[in-house]
Amino acid sequence: MSQKNEFENLEDKKIKHSYIQNMFSDISHTYDLMNNIFTFGQHKKWRKKIVKQEITQNDSVLDIGCGTGDFVFDCLPYSKNSIVGIDFAKSMVEIAYNKSDQFSQMTNFLIGDALILPIQSNRFDICSMSFVLRNISDVDVLLREVHRILKPGGKIIIIDAFKKTNRFRIINFFSKLYSAFLVPVIGRLISGHRNAYKYLNFSIENFYTMDELGEFMENNQFVVRNKQTFLFGSVGALVVQKLD
Ligand SMILES: C[S@@+](CC[C@H](N)C(=O)[O-])C[C@H]1O[C@@H](n2cnc3c(N)ncnc32)[C@H](O)[C@@H]1O
Repeated sequence: MSQKNEFENLEDKKIKHSYIQNMFSDISHTYDLMNNIFTFGQHKKWRKKIVKQEITQNDSVLDIGCGTGDFVFDCLPYSKNSIVGIDFAKSMVEIAYNKSDQFSQMTNFLIGDALILPIQSNRFDICSMSFVLRNISDVDVLLREVHRILKPGGKIIIIDAFKKTNRFRIINFFSKLYSAFLVPVIGRLISGHRNAYKYLNFSIENFYTMDELGEFMENNQFVVRNKQTFLFGSVGALVVQKLD
């Protein structure tokens, strides 16, 4: 069965929403390990770099799709304001919550859906989404929610594996071999989940390029403030600001 056919029912937003929630619940126990293996530990550096550049001490931060909490913990040295993580996969949030024992500062984790954020309007300075947007079943709804809860002038920090451009053709070839063949096999062996790491490749190929996402944001009341790529363009960080 081709990858397109295998995942084509995810074009239905309701099906994708519950598929993603179940998938992350199922792989939560090996999520951190797999992240370390597949990015060669580099995901920590990418997050820390962008957090250091963008978070200042009075910034309140909502980390959407916080998973096991790494982005939240990375913000702690930089902001004295509230830093909250939210995710709809309960078992991911439980891992984040248990990790927060290792940190002296207060952290706050919520179980909840990014498409109906249980948060008042104009509440946060920063909204972050690290490796989340590809998995969101309705990006238009999400963006409306994020726009609502951000203060005027607030920023969204997006880190993700974007669809490849033609800029690094040879590297893209090897990167495709890696994510289409090696990652699904290793992912299946370690996580025990049949499709999660096949879906990872599918979701990248069906996502925006970083430039396309920037354009989409600019058509939706945000302006691009910072763009950078890591690992020869396989991963990118995009920072956009809400227009007042
Ligand atoms: C690839 S993980 C990223 C976790 C973490 N941000 C990181 O950088 O490791 C994607 C996360 O987004 C969450 N997610 C996807 N759609 C969501 C939604 N509609 N509401 C809340 N969380 C969502 C998943 O449950 C999952 O934990």
